[in-house]
Amino acid sequence: MAAHTGGLTTAKDLAPTVRIENLVRSFGARQVLDGLELSIVPGEFVALLGRSGSGKSTLLRALARLDHEVAGSGELAAPDHVSVVFQDARLLPWKRLLDDVVLGLTGPDAEQRGRTALAEVGLDGRERAWPVELSGGEQQRVSLARSLVREPQLLLAAEPFGALDALTRIRMHILLRRLCERHRPAVLLVTHDVDEAIVLADRMVVLDQGRIAADLPVELPAPRRHGSPEYAALRDRVLAQLGVDLVEEGSPARPSDGNCT
Ligand SMILES: Nc1ncnc2c1ncn2[C@@H]1O[C@H](COP(=O)(O)OP(=O)(O)OP(=O)(O)O)[C@@H](O)[C@H]1O
Ligand SMILES: [Mg+2]
Repeated sequence: MAAHTGGLTTAKDLAPTVRIENLVRSFGARQVLDGLELSIVPGEFVALLGRSGSGKSTLLRALARLDHEVAGSGELAAPDHVSVVFQDARLLPWKRLLDDVVLGLTGPDAEQRGRTALAEVGLDGRERAWPVELSGGEQQRVSLARSLVREPQLLLAAEPFGALDALTRIRMHILLRRLCERHRPAVLLVTHDVDEAIVLADRMVVLDQGRIAADLPVELPAPRRHGSPEYAALRDRVLAQLGVDLVEEGSPARPSDGNCT
């Protein structure tokens, strides 16, 4: 959320948390990433959009160091402390919430940090609950707590709210923004939801043909409201980059049209 701070240091002055140059990844004859370039500075929130199959998950796996075959190609500099949040919360069914959140944490204050993290996502008092006792939205809150308690330099989020209902998703947007403003990781959020990208991100990048085809700063007056002309213009630009021609398709530009794959 570097652009929201209003401080004297601008995002562009900071050494990048992520630096990717000329990244190439092929699967057989199919070249998915083709000379991709991307930098993310500390505290910056970047939304990654792109059509289905454009390579978003491939890029995320590379950044999470889950793809060992990408290593030889180009330059890929990412920090040591990376956390990943997925669409499904992936909680351990046999662990109570607090035990899951603090798993692998060391130090005498580990348990207290876990309790604080659960409180931050609104789940204080639920430390001893089992995952099965939680709703999908609550499970995703635990997943966020588990990621942020590790104070990652980079948070990778793969459509984290895609399975949630619209109202819960809005609540999670508010929560994620608040958490990111407090913990200030660099964030790369993969989403198909253009409105989610505009509401949350400092910058939106669109992946197409193996490269970043558009890199759009989100410079909107706060609060970012769907109805404003600036919001609508930015939204149309992103949709056009994603290959959605609103005039040709004959559909009015409504927020619910933003889910495109
Ligand atoms: N392990 C793999 N083996 C072969 N092909 C793969 C593999 N992983 C990804 N691909 C191919 O790479 C391309 C990009 O896949 P990727 O999962 O990165 O797309 P995506 O942008 O995340 O799509 P979606 O929005 O549908 O999740 C696809 O054509 C996919 O079939
Ligand atoms: Mg994907």
